[in-house]
Amino acid sequence: MQIDDFDIDLFLRDQWQKRPALIRNPWKSWVNPLTPEELAGLACEDDVESRLIEQVGDSWTLAHGPFAAARFAKLGKQPWTLLVQAVDHHVPDVTALIEPFRFVPNWRIDDVMVSYATDGGGVGPHFDQYDVFLLQGLGKRCWRVGPRCDESTPLRPHDDLRLLAGFEATDEWVLEPGDILYVPPGFAHDGVAVGDDCMTYSIGFRAPSRSELIADWCDHVVEQMQDDDRYADPDLQVQANPGEIAPSALDRLHAMIAEKMLDRDAFARWFGTYNSVRKYPEIDWQPDEPIDMADLRDFLAARTPLCRNPASRFSFIRRGENAVLLFVDGQGFECSGETALLAEALCAGDRLQPASDLAHSPAALTLLAALLDQGNLAFEQED
Ligand code: SIN
Ligand code: CO
Repeated sequence: MQIDDFDIDLFLRDQWQKRPALIRNPWKSWVNPLTPEELAGLACEDDVESRLIEQVGDSWTLAHGPFAAARFAKLGKQPWTLLVQAVDHHVPDVTALIEPFRFVPNWRIDDVMVSYATDGGGVGPHFDQYDVFLLQGLGKRCWRVGPRCDESTPLRPHDDLRLLAGFEATDEWVLEPGDILYVPPGFAHDGVAVGDDCMTYSIGFRAPSRSELIADWCDHVVEQMQDDDRYADPDLQVQANPGEIAPSALDRLHAMIAEKMLDRDAFARWFGTYNSVRKYPEIDWQPDEPIDMADLRDFLAARTPLCRNPASRFSFIRRGENAVLLFVDGQGFECSGETALLAEALCAGDRLQPASDLAHSPAALTLLAALLDQGNLAFEQED
């Protein structure tokens, strides 16, 4: 799927994280990658997260999937919407929708949620904590966008959908197939289907909250520590008042914390691991048998393309001139030389045609074998 008429630099400068933006059909030619029936089929599967929202008058009811196929036939005339999470993990043509948005780094990308709604259907006015590109796939949707909200913005009482108590739109647009609405974190929005067969693809991002970052980093630091790593004062001096906690003691106590908590190197290693943990571990590409090394060399010599499991999370940090630390699904791999180049190439795109000389690199073979055996990668199958 190619995007043409879209100035990324201008978008990042003026809109990203700043204000909502309407991008009118920027595609060379827009093709809706999934039918409503295929989406309903996914919502019936056990390993797929889905929700069904039915609307009666001014109230919304929420049910969680998987759903029985017969459920959709029984839905009445009232507006309803079906939302299916991480469809990019299951449908390659939906995975391809992320590609044009790769100007945002891998570690900030979450997944593609797909919704289907009947006339008048929607999830109600709300705000999200994350950036989202709302891409209209099929049919039409009227989007109304309001001001930036925060934790103090009033919500409707007793509502697990976290709908806004009051919603005043500042902009309103009807999106047609191929149109995109970008909504930064916190901005109120409400999308209502105009006519039946309305499908919207939400290319969603993620950003750690400061509280989860601190809590999880602290847990990690604490796990690494020994009980005998304690305050010590071999240089203790007599104090005028034994009741005082002396500034020198406080400095030393504070340093005990700061030294560990501010270790930038340890933090970088931990963050890469932590951030690359998968959201949906069940999408399993693990082969029945570990890959045979002779087969691996043959695949590489033939330059057979490698594909990333769409549920896998790949990112890296630089460790110097020719070295990187690669993170895949919560694991770290030290890579240098040609293996570092391979790691970077694996992170740069979800499909890679490997260089044939990798077949002669023991370190690259070890890395690839580990990733293939764990199901993070697979060689592309011929049809
Ligand atoms: C939808 O696709 O109906 C909802 C997406 C959103 O508002 O975040
Ligand atoms: Co939303």
